[in-house]
Amino acid sequence: REELVVLGIETSCDDTAAAVVRGNGQILGQIVSSQADLLSRYGGVAPKMAEEAHSLVIDQVVQQALDASNLTGEDLSAVAVTIGPGLSLCLRVGVTKARRVAGRFNLPIIGVHHMEAHALVARLVDNDLQFPFLALLISGGHNLLILARDVGHYVQLGTTIDDAIGEAYDKTARWLGLNISKGGGPALEELAREGDSDSVKFKIPMRQYKDCNFSYAGLKTQVRLAIESRSACVDNNPISSASFQDRKSRADIAASFQRVAVLHLEERCERAIQWAKEMEPSINCLVVSGGVASNQYIRSRLSYVVERNRIRLVCPPPKLCTDNGVMVAWTGIEHFLLGRFDQPPPAREPEDYV
Ligand code: KG4
Ligand code: ZN
Repeated sequence: REELVVLGIETSCDDTAAAVVRGNGQILGQIVSSQADLLSRYGGVAPKMAEEAHSLVIDQVVQQALDASNLTGEDLSAVAVTIGPGLSLCLRVGVTKARRVAGRFNLPIIGVHHMEAHALVARLVDNDLQFPFLALLISGGHNLLILARDVGHYVQLGTTIDDAIGEAYDKTARWLGLNISKGGGPALEELAREGDSDSVKFKIPMRQYKDCNFSYAGLKTQVRLAIESRSACVDNNPISSASFQDRKSRADIAASFQRVAVLHLEERCERAIQWAKEMEPSINCLVVSGGVASNQYIRSRLSYVVERNRIRLVCPPPKLCTDNGVMVAWTGIEHFLLGRFDQPPPAREPEDYV
């Protein structure tokens, strides 16, 4: 296991990331190049622009990850790369790079599912984490509750029927006129600390549905209306009038939004724990991962949920919760050890000639 050294490449959304990880979980080098700046300037991910940004830095990011590890391509055992879900134009940048490296050094390739990587990185962080476990995966594009039975064996207990929680955080931050150059979620979490979370009454989503699914579109609309009704709304656009009033009234909205957004998570997790225990009585751990899981308020609220249910919480450090290459390399390792990988591609790809 220790001899195994895997390069992981991640380009599914707005971060270009690469890492080199050893089979025993030792992180040898990791680099993330973020497009958050672009995002805050243009207000979202434009696939073509994101693709160009990935293409611009991918060679450098992979090289820096190898340099940080004091290794070269010769030392690698395999290359793992995110193949979905994500923006196809962006995924292609990573996959093309992975095939080039693998072709050049005659290495097997492992295609990795982005959400599986968010879940499995918890096993790198916590050596004692055994299957089966329950995982809440919360990011910009996904909200998932899964029962992980084994590598590659997952039962989906719940998903979002519309928006993911990260999307709700990002939009709320934007409507509140926050500086989102480091991402909407962190900015909102910070402002919420100053607010009164009971001051604005938002409705908890989906309470009438006794399942484990999520919905954040309705909460987003509630927040938008609350902002509009408080701002000197000129042209019906809360974005343009978000400089409204004092910081305190915006903090109140942020805190009230966050409380309800997270109560929705708590309720769904409570139910999912019950469901999971019926399916797998030995379940004793809830993994929480994905970019939104770096949120401290969410971590502390979920720690009460697990306490009440006498299970354990495993939450990777923020750097491994947001998109990164380590989770991809690690998931590659988990699959590789089970013999699940593709043969090396030809040394020269057709596109190398054009
Ligand atoms: O997993 P991730 O890095 O990328 C996707 O796969 O989508 O997640 C990104 C999401 C963004 O919506 C970002 O605002 C959110 O994670 N996020 C946070 C925090 N840090 C990142 N949301 C709330 N609180 C945070 N501290
Ligand atoms: Zn992600």
